[in-house]
Amino acid sequence: MDTRMHDLVVIGAGPGGYVAAIRAAQLGMNVACVDENPQLGGTCLRLGCIPTKALLESSERFAEASAGLAEHGVKIDGVSLDLAAMLKRKDAVVTGLTAGVAALFKRNKVVRYEGRGRLAGAGLVRVQGKDSLELSAKHVLLAPGSACAPLPGVVPDGDRIGTSSEALAWPAVPPRLVVIGAGYIGLELGSVWRRLGAQVTVVEFLDRILPGTDGEIAREAQKLLRRQGLEFRLGCRVTGAGVEGGECVVTIDGQEPARGARVLVAVGRRPSTSDLGLETAGIVPDDRGRIPVDAEFRTAAPGVYAIGDAIRGPMLAHKASEEGVACVERISLRLRSGQVGAPGLVDHDLVPGVCYTEPEIAGVGKTEEALQQAGVPFKKGVFHFRAAPRARCTGRIDGRVKILAHEKTDRVLGVHIIGSHAGELIAEAAAAMAFGASSEDLARVCHAHPTLAEAIKEAALDVDKRAIHA
Ligand code: NAI
Repeated sequence: MDTRMHDLVVIGAGPGGYVAAIRAAQLGMNVACVDENPQLGGTCLRLGCIPTKALLESSERFAEASAGLAEHGVKIDGVSLDLAAMLKRKDAVVTGLTAGVAALFKRNKVVRYEGRGRLAGAGLVRVQGKDSLELSAKHVLLAPGSACAPLPGVVPDGDRIGTSSEALAWPAVPPRLVVIGAGYIGLELGSVWRRLGAQVTVVEFLDRILPGTDGEIAREAQKLLRRQGLEFRLGCRVTGAGVEGGECVVTIDGQEPARGARVLVAVGRRPSTSDLGLETAGIVPDDRGRIPVDAEFRTAAPGVYAIGDAIRGPMLAHKASEEGVACVERISLRLRSGQVGAPGLVDHDLVPGVCYTEPEIAGVGKTEEALQQAGVPFKKGVFHFRAAPRARCTGRIDGRVKILAHEKTDRVLGVHIIGSHAGELIAEAAAAMAFGASSEDLARVCHAHPTLAEAIKEAALDVDKRAIHA
């Protein structure tokens, strides 16, 4: 078999792997990236973050054109949906971005192999697929990502009962949709199909939506989404789903079943670590299939590293990218001295999370519940968007900014936002927290008027009860 040598071989071309490959090439390494899919970019680009956001954008425009513009004095008659065109645009967005990653590989001289990559012992990767060969490398980075977690009793049939992959391409709007799981995927895709006309029921095991999100913000999200027509059945454990008499029936432990034309299963994701040849290098995944790593992303096998959804921490694209950069900068530091700048470090406490519903839900740092549980004394500032002049102008007045700061030191410990553009606004909070800001620091920053970001300044002022417009 043909064997090629590289300084670094990355398995997986998702936002963890491809970003790591480019950064390593920038640092002078001879890098190869192996992925079995012809389109680079991983789940995020092909079947995750990007196509959902494209559909969220289009469906929101449809909803607004259908019902949201009259208050602005814009009358539109006869709005109709061209779902095929909407899906085509989504596909074009994906194709453009995946081609962009291929161009970046070319520009940075990252060698790309198309096939399934498996470890064949430390320092050796076997590629099988369109390209079939063996790669020898001093360093191997595993970035295999994750796949939709199965739910016992529910077998996706690739048609009526599907995962997010299918729900991104349904050819018609289902009259009734049952979503299993009120996490990010369930709420985002549930919103898309609701806006396009489906009756949506979200069935959730817990007594709340968005586990892990700040409770106050999640409660407000539920209220606002309910107002948009999403029906929630909380505290309901789904035990099975099947098609009966032309209709999908979702069985629920001790309760009436939920029925619909289609079912979306969105009960989490699990690491794709089962077919990576880990055993050949003596790497043993934990009970959740995650690869154990140290602070520098080193696995139990010398020269083998892992990042992203395959290791601990939130399964988020940007977390994987940050880890990829930090990991290869550390490898580079070990390879040669004289590197400019210090290698990256990932502060896992400061990974922002965003749910792209309307309004968006975003958070960074600790939730109020986490601080209470840890016994950390804190103060809280809240500002409602309805009091922000810019929100009044846009008409999107729902939601709030909440800032949690240490009672004694005033250091910002968590920022949680529900509101229009919350996903953009949270970046200011993440930057401030990365620099160790206090709420006083945030409150003293001059924010442009009129902007939504003023709500952050006002919430920071409210920490010491001196907000101006509250
Ligand atoms: P999730 O873990 O966020 O939510 C799954 C929900 O399903 C939970 O609330 C859980 O209690 C519920 N559930 C589990 N078993 C159940 C049962 N038998 N009956 C009823 N409910 C049940 O998972 P989700 O939404 O599938 O997302 C997967 C991953 O993808 C997450 O880690 C998320 O961070 C990531 N993601 C991120 C996005 C973003 O950043 N905007 C968008 C989409 C996904």
